[in-house]
Amino acid sequence: MTHDPDASEAQLYADLPEPLVLPPSELLANHEPNVLAPLVRCSKLPFRHLTSLYETHITHTPMILAEEFSRAQVARVSDFSTSTSERGVYWMTPCDSSNSSSSSRKGKEVIRLTHPDDDPKSDSNSNLTHQRGSDDLITYHNGIYGDRLPPTPTRPNPHAELVRGNLIAQFASPTAKSLVDAAELISPYVDGIDLNCGCPQRWAYNEGIGCALLRKPELVRDMVRQVRDRMGWGWSVSIKIRIDPDQKQTETLIRNALQAGISYLSIHGRTRHQPSTDPVNLEGIKFAVKIVNGEVPCTGNGDIWTYDDVLTMREKTGVKGVMAARGLLANPALFASYSSTPSHAVSQFISLSTSYGLIFPLFHRHLAYMLESDFSRNEKVWFNCLSSSSAAIDWLEGRGLDWKSKRGTVWDARQGRGVMTAL
Ligand SMILES: Cc1cc2nc3c(=O)[nH]c(=O)nc-3n(C[C@H](O)[C@H](O)[C@H](O)COP(=O)(O)O)c2cc1C
Repeated sequence: MTHDPDASEAQLYADLPEPLVLPPSELLANHEPNVLAPLVRCSKLPFRHLTSLYETHITHTPMILAEEFSRAQVARVSDFSTSTSERGVYWMTPCDSSNSSSSSRKGKEVIRLTHPDDDPKSDSNSNLTHQRGSDDLITYHNGIYGDRLPPTPTRPNPHAELVRGNLIAQFASPTAKSLVDAAELISPYVDGIDLNCGCPQRWAYNEGIGCALLRKPELVRDMVRQVRDRMGWGWSVSIKIRIDPDQKQTETLIRNALQAGISYLSIHGRTRHQPSTDPVNLEGIKFAVKIVNGEVPCTGNGDIWTYDDVLTMREKTGVKGVMAARGLLANPALFASYSSTPSHAVSQFISLSTSYGLIFPLFHRHLAYMLESDFSRNEKVWFNCLSSSSAAIDWLEGRGLDWKSKRGTVWDARQGRGVMTAL
């Protein structure tokens, strides 16, 4: 790397090694990543890309209904879109540097889980938004932001490795067949699939999906196993559960899932009947981690609002990954240890949403989540009355937000305080 103080960005980043592309279980086991939870309507492409700029290493799509997805092209187009650059690239320090991914891989082939269209020779700076034809599966944006770069050009410590983030598609399904079909269809575009066993809504329960699976351990086992059989053992299959007031039920579910070969387990520390206003039960998560007994890595979820909460979750439960939902909606830079949404994250969100496209109600809702704590009562009323994306942008520009000049660079993430810079 050049030491010239006047070096351009291109020169500074010229000698970076190729990032490691690790399967999610390995990323979790070795690097203690931060995770964006699946969020119906909210964890769509622009928001996933935004959080990935701020030390969110694994992102999830919203829950997708597997039956619709596997049956109808129209569902595939409306439920899922991705891009060549939504997954970030990070300097990550392995928890145990003697077991770093690069050292344990010496002499072995590095697993590459890239999209078939990812051709390094292609023009990654082209600003084309590429909508695949009617025979194709999904909306695939090509090269809007070019290659992703890590927040700093220099290795923050001698053990840090350059690692690419993961994207997981979450499905809800009442049967193994639709889950397997959906997994196969989406597989070229993601690093794995997750089965929703936690949606508490009545309609979902009545359809036999979400929480309805919490007490159907044999069905969950069958579903995971069939995905494994179709997709192979290198493919990531995880489940996201809620804890059960009857710990025996949690234990049986986990044992069945392990037997079927889950790659990792995500645990939301609330029961089916607990609202999210109830505090997360860290003891419940710890119990689930104990049952897993190190067979696969776990991710803990619930009430992550600050970076201190991230540390507490790891320390008190033994999980490797920490998953946030409402905390990231309120502050997408939470994992980069910002205490509230920085203005550059708002700028990036506007830039990403206008480039990828996001319907106004969602655009408006995200901005409200991010800015609510800054607004006075009057400002809230004004903001809620705005009825188009351009009106919302004008209003924010009137409050001094300059979003256009920062478009399409990695400047924002570099301002985040590095979370894993030291051993
Ligand atoms: C708007 C919203 C949408 C959600 N959608 C999903 C979903 O699609 N799949 C899922 O497993 N959980 C979903 N959840 C639950 C979250 O993933 C998470 O488990 C829950 O909010 C607890 O985390 P938190 O305390 O950090 O918010 C959703 C939660 C919210 C607030």
